[in-house]
Amino acid sequence: MALPPVLLVSSFVLVVLSPTYAVDSKNNPADQLVAVINANRTASKSSELIDNPGLGCIALQYIKAYEGQCSEVGDMKKPPDSSFVDAFAPNCGVRAQSLTPITGRLLGCQSKYMSPDEAFSNILVQNSRSLQILHDKNHTEVGAAVTGTDGGSPYFWCVLFSSGKKNGSFVFENGEAKTVHPGCFSGNNDDCSAAAQFAALGSVVWKIIAGVLCVVVCVL
Ligand SMILES: *[C@@H]1O[C@H](CO)[C@@H](O)[C@H](O)[C@H]1NC(C)=O
Ligand SMILES: *[C@@H]1O[C@H](CO)[C@@H](O)[C@H](O)[C@H]1NC(C)=O
Ligand SMILES: *[C@@H]1O[C@H](CO)[C@@H](O)[C@H](O)[C@H]1NC(C)=O
Repeated sequence: MALPPVLLVSSFVLVVLSPTYAVDSKNNPADQLVAVINANRTASKSSELIDNPGLGCIALQYIKAYEGQCSEVGDMKKPPDSSFVDAFAPNCGVRAQSLTPITGRLLGCQSKYMSPDEAFSNILVQNSRSLQILHDKNHTEVGAAVTGTDGGSPYFWCVLFSSGKKNGSFVFENGEAKTVHPGCFSGNNDDCSAAAQFAALGSVVWKIIAGVLCVVVCVL
C-alpha cells in the first residue's frame, strides 16, 4: 500500500523525536529515585522502604518552601517544622493527625537536569553523612519529589524518610492522592507528564545555552 507523502513525513518525524520523549514521559523520576534508594538499601542489608504518596507529596511541598533558592539548600536551611501542619499537609490533602516524625531528609539542587540515578550519586548521596541517613534503620517509609523552578532550572530533589506505620501515616483525606503540579512525587501512580515537559524543555534550554556559550567561547 502506498502511503501518502504527508504520512511518511510525519512518521519520520515521530521516529526521530520518540527517543527523547519516550524516556521522559512514560516514567516518573521520583518513583525511579525511590527504586534506586531501595536497591541501595537492600544491597546494604537495610530494609526496603514503603513508597508513601502522602509523604512524596509533602516532599514536593518541602521543595516549594525553598522558592527556587538553590543557595539556601547549601546553607542547610530548613522550612520550620510547623509548616508540615500549617501548609504542607493541607496543600496535599493529607490529614494532619496522620503526620509522623521525619527521620531523615536528603535534599539537593542543581542547575542541570539529571537522571534519578545520577541525582542520587552526584547530588543527594555523596558523603558518609548522607550515606548514614540513607541506610538508617529507623526509616520505614520514604517519599521523593523532583521539580524545576518555573518549569526549568534549577532542579530540586528531595527525599523524606519517616518511621510511620504502614498506611497509617501521611493518609490522604479522601483516600486518594491529590494531583499537585508542577513537579513529580513518588508513589502516586502519576506518569508525571508535566515534569517530563520541564525535563525535556530543560534539556533543550541547556543545549541552547551550551550552544550560545560555545559561540561566545569560539568568538573570544
Ligand atoms: C550506594 O550508594 C552509594 C552512594 O552513591 C555508593 O557509594 C554505593 O556503592 C552504593 N551501594 C550499592 C550496593 O550500590
Ligand atoms: C532511631 O530510633 C531510636 C529510638 O527511637 C533513637 O534513639 C535513635 O536516635 C534513632 N536513630 C537515628 C539515627 O535517628
Ligand atoms: C492497610 O493496608 C492493608 C492492605 O495493604 C489493609 O488490609 C488494611 O485494612 C489497611 N489498614 C488500614 C487501617 O487502612
